[in-house]
Amino acid sequence: AKTVHEQWEISYQFTHSDCVRKLAVTINGGTPGPTIRAVQGDTVVVTVKNLLMTENVAIHWHGIRQLGTPWADGTEGVTQCPILPGDTFEYRFVVDRPGTYMYHAHYGMTYRFRIASVTSLSALNFEIEGHEMTVVETDGHYVKPFVVKNLNIYSGETYSVLIKADQDPNRNYWLASNVVSRKPGTPTGTAVLSYYGGRSSPRAPPPTAPPAGPAWNDSAYRIGQSLATVAHPEHAHPPPPRADRTILLLNSQNKIDGRIKWAINNVSFTLPHTPYLVALKHGLLGDFDQRPPPETYNHTGYDVYGVQANPNATTSDGLYRLAFGSVVDVVLQNANMLAPNNSETHPWHLHGHDFWTLGYGVGRFDPAVHPATYNLRDPVMKNTVAVHPFGWTALRFRADNPGVWAFHCHIEAHFFMGMGVAFEEGIERVGDLPEEIRRCVSTKGGGH
Ligand code: C2O
Ligand code: CU
Repeated sequence: AKTVHEQWEISYQFTHSDCVRKLAVTINGGTPGPTIRAVQGDTVVVTVKNLLMTENVAIHWHGIRQLGTPWADGTEGVTQCPILPGDTFEYRFVVDRPGTYMYHAHYGMTYRFRIASVTSLSALNFEIEGHEMTVVETDGHYVKPFVVKNLNIYSGETYSVLIKADQDPNRNYWLASNVVSRKPGTPTGTAVLSYYGGRSSPRAPPPTAPPAGPAWNDSAYRIGQSLATVAHPEHAHPPPPRADRTILLLNSQNKIDGRIKWAINNVSFTLPHTPYLVALKHGLLGDFDQRPPPETYNHTGYDVYGVQANPNATTSDGLYRLAFGSVVDVVLQNANMLAPNNSETHPWHLHGHDFWTLGYGVGRFDPAVHPATYNLRDPVMKNTVAVHPFGWTALRFRADNPGVWAFHCHIEAHFFMGMGVAFEEGIERVGDLPEEIRRCVSTKGGGH
């Protein structure tokens, strides 16, 4: 195994990434940032220097489990203090397995710095005109190959697809991205696919209109893709047969002091000032809410299709503490939003782990009925999964990675409006924390 060294400088530069000149946060002058090439077992060392004048940053290695290095996860408030302007921070971690991963900033919204391959808000449907795609991998796991005309992809997910270049080489084809799940307010995103050696110039527009994608509100179509995504028979890791603990998480849109927020079991998540990892290792327990967040909601009485009579929620930075090594089921329940007949897709992302995607359903989850329908045979493992409109998604993971890990909706605005939780497991097994992650913690109890 080798060590891959990267030196990054984060700064504002003028770019033309969507054909319009604007100021963007860049890494070494570019956006998206550099591609890091490494193989399983390699150590990646990235020295990040923040040259922004006024904004903080942290870089999250999305999908890397950070086995033994929870402090390198790059999640401000959970695993580290922000990297202040002028400061340098070193990320050092081992690549735990092959796949395609993204990195992105994990610090607030205004201060956003985005270099991921996916969106901050929209769910997309991607199509290559005239070419079917065979889906073979998602989030670093092989899936039982299946063929699609177009692919639904949610913020935080990654996929690999195979296509055959077997069409007429003398014309070009559209690559099209259409917004789904929310009513699109933007035109189709396009690029051109051109065959090498064909008679069309690579820049010539195809002779057709770009594909319009499926109807934006066809959630049944998108659930179909979720259900088709199962583990490859030769690469399946079957889940443990049962869970030690089940947590039901209601996703609802709420109000706090008249402002729109998102809440989980009526609690809107806020990040503590002291990162949890630091607070727990150094006994700074006054630095976050010690009351555990609710394990469930009124799951027998809640009308997931209706507008809540009382939309008010509370805020908390409380933490779920999981027994080390235990098997945890999480059921994410979607619901109607503040406006009637409205529910959107939430792509939930878990840091530090992969989980088994056990099942999806529409309507209210019934703990007495639905667990019997779980796919325990060949569920695919992922780190980001969609919760469809008015539906539920069940997942299972083993709490075997010592640290504190964020679990949140990957729509950036939703997370910073409260749509997330944090899990602690095996904190006593976490080694000495690097000094670098605790710069925002006052010295009263914080180490040296
Ligand atoms: Cu790519 Cu906390 O996420
Ligand atoms: Cu969301």
